[in-house]
Amino acid sequence: MSSGNLSRSIRRNRITRDWISQTELRVKDFILPYFVAEGEDIKRPIESMPGVYHLSIDNVIKDIAESEGLRAVLLFGVIDKKDELGSESYRAGGIVQKAARAVKEKFSELVVITDVCLCGYTSHGHCGIIKAERKNENSFIDVRATLKVLARIALSHAEAGADLVAPSAMTDGQVGTIREALDKHGFTDTGILAYSAKYASNFYGPFRDALNSAPRFGDRKAYQMDFRNPDEALREIEEDISEGADIVMIKPALAYLDILCRAKQKFNVPVAAYNVSGEYSMIKAMSGGDQEMEKNLALEVLTSIKRAGADFIISYFGKEAAKWLK
Ligand code: PBG
Repeated sequence: MSSGNLSRSIRRNRITRDWISQTELRVKDFILPYFVAEGEDIKRPIESMPGVYHLSIDNVIKDIAESEGLRAVLLFGVIDKKDELGSESYRAGGIVQKAARAVKEKFSELVVITDVCLCGYTSHGHCGIIKAERKNENSFIDVRATLKVLARIALSHAEAGADLVAPSAMTDGQVGTIREALDKHGFTDTGILAYSAKYASNFYGPFRDALNSAPRFGDRKAYQMDFRNPDEALREIEEDISEGADIVMIKPALAYLDILCRAKQKFNVPVAAYNVSGEYSMIKAMSGGDQEMEKNLALEVLTSIKRAGADFIISYFGKEAAKWLK
């Protein structure tokens, strides 16, 4: 009797199949991103992400109230008033700060995570401050100036009640700088979810539509990682852990399952994965409104992310997933 036959007989029956399943998606595995916009009763469709919207704070609150099982959200701000220095990003009365306050006030148990980056706030669309003299196309980010602003953003989010801040600018030293600033101001309990291994990916396209944050010149290859390199990701993660990251993240997820798997095996910290906008839209496009197909595709992909080693998943399917898994 070969073990192959044994497996086959178990596979034939749904109950015995469930006995031997090694990966289980759970409602509690998901973090749902929101694109928060100024105004009232705003619900603007994002064309390249069917089913995802710009929502005003009142509608975010409504949506969370309707999302059964939702335990964590990731907030992005959608703004028009952009400038060279992204100065709207750290304003105490800014959209993310207001949203974090409002959400925490209404749902104190819900974990509120905020994205700490500049690309949605700068007129040039880059994740950092641009050097006055931009001679070299590969080194135009002013790292020191950027770190200062990132710390300011993180602090403003912590003051607004964020449980975790998520630096995503891929600036060297961002985790350590933010940790230090938070501690110095008494926010020792505010955690850091680090976008540690963030690749320069083509799967961010729909997100950049959502935030109108595509770079106006050059690209992000000088600070996001080259997708040909796995070892670099492990070094970035190691660095972020040593700088004080509580959770590390791999992004995107689907085309980077090998990175996820290696990171989980190597490091003894929680690992998150970001099932990004392009991964979402791809499934939407393939299923073309067929809800059963959408569900099956999404659950297969999300399960693969979990199987590869993610402890939890940031996904635009977060709300549906909770329904499917109930
Ligand atoms: C900000 C940021 C990006 C995403 C999350 N935070 C995009 C980028 O680097 O342009 C992408 C998320 C997604 O595609 O869903 N730096």
